[in-house]
Amino acid sequence: MNPQASEQAKIRVLMVCLGNICRSPTAHGVFQKHIDDNDLSYALEVDSAGTSRYHIGEPPDSRSSSAASQRGYDLSAQRARQLADEDYQRFDYILAMDSDNLREIEARRPSEARAETGLLLDFAKSEEMEVPDPYYSGGDGFEIVLNLVEDACLELLAHIKDRHEHFSSLR
Ligand code: 4NP
Repeated sequence: MNPQASEQAKIRVLMVCLGNICRSPTAHGVFQKHIDDNDLSYALEVDSAGTSRYHIGEPPDSRSSSAASQRGYDLSAQRARQLADEDYQRFDYILAMDSDNLREIEARRPSEARAETGLLLDFAKSEEMEVPDPYYSGGDGFEIVLNLVEDACLELLAHIKDRHEHFSSLR
């Protein structure tokens, strides 16, 4: 497949939380590592955004970055941005970290939209449905985020490989 066709056929995932400085950057970094480690960048892309404007332009929270870095994930290139109307066309999956943000994502859905929306933890094996916000709670909240997100990202990758039959034929 030529590079332009391959670019169009990519499957794109957008991870979304409130501030885009703790949970969604962590999910972005974890899923990006799967993409890199499996040489899947020709077929798969991940990004993240926040529903709020609170932290636009800021790097991830240093507590998220250091917890992620200890498990081998690099969040340093990320900068917070807000969910935009164009995202609903560009991305195949827009995945929220909790149900408040999912509601917000669905409320803002433009009429011209193709993204499938849901909770990231819909894909996880764990019983949890939401990734708890660690911003104010601190403590081991950042490790809990990583545990939940790591589980879900593995399952999400398996789901995408299963569901999108053309996945393995893109190269
Ligand atoms: P996040 O965490 O949604 O996981 O990025 C938060 C970051 C900032 C705020 C709330 C949650 N805040 O209120 O500024």
